Amino acid sequence: MLDKSKNIEEYILQHTEPENEILAEINRQTNLKMIHPRMLSGHLQGRILSMISKMVNPAYILEIGTFTGYSALCLAEGLQNNGKLITIEKDDEIAEFALTYFKKARLNQQIELKVGSAVDIIANLNYYFDLAFIDANKDQYSLYFDLVFDKMKSGGIIVADNVLWSGKVVDRLVEKDIDTKALIDFNNKIQSDKRVENVLLPVRDGLMVIRKK
Ligand SMILES: C[S@@+](CC[C@H](N)C(=O)[O-])C[C@H]1O[C@@H](n2cnc3c(N)ncnc32)[C@H](O)[C@@H]1O
Repeated sequence: MLDKSKNIEEYILQHTEPENEILAEINRQTNLKMIHPRMLSGHLQGRILSMISKMVNPAYILEIGTFTGYSALCLAEGLQNNGKLITIEKDDEIAEFALTYFKKARLNQQIELKVGSAVDIIANLNYYFDLAFIDANKDQYSLYFDLVFDKMKSGGIIVADNVLWSGKVVDRLVEKDIDTKALIDFNNKIQSDKRVENVLLPVRDGLMVIRKK
């Protein structure tokens, strides 16, 4: 059974557009140099983010949680010619790493990397976004959604990563597990919000795709 699901995983990747050279390099270097390389979106999720972005064809994208820049470059693939992606990262060393690749991809004019705490930065952004990707600290997902919601155009898409949290959202909750509790609350909040349509995609660690009506 394990073998079969591994085969299916391989088959899926063999029948999905490959990563370009820069993305493959970020993937490699992240695995070599970062303590938590698994935070990177990776090949399949990256192609899904790219496809969503190309379908939305956004003028403005917001990303919360840059890490090494992999998902930002995937999302930027769908940007309009004069469009802009704003991505927020609190760790300045990791941000420096990501910036190297934004320059390498010649996208450092279109991608604005803001270093600092997402809550403070989002509050001061004066844009209306077509697409947002929430992928930073899990305990603030609900707050990020509230802050971002008011800055989304109607019809705009918000994608939130890791909403299955390795399946812990269906396990018995351990009281001290703040992140799991926060993700359960977030998923329930989205499910009961009448202002949105949503679908939870069982991709990797769970992607909640939310459309503002
Ligand atoms: C899961 S990683 C992002 C992965 C990236 N989006 C990708 O798919 O390749 C989360 C990132 O969010 C950053 N982060 C965590 N809390 C943050 C906060 N409060 N403000 C800004 N960035 C934060 C972390 O430093 C980390 O680099």
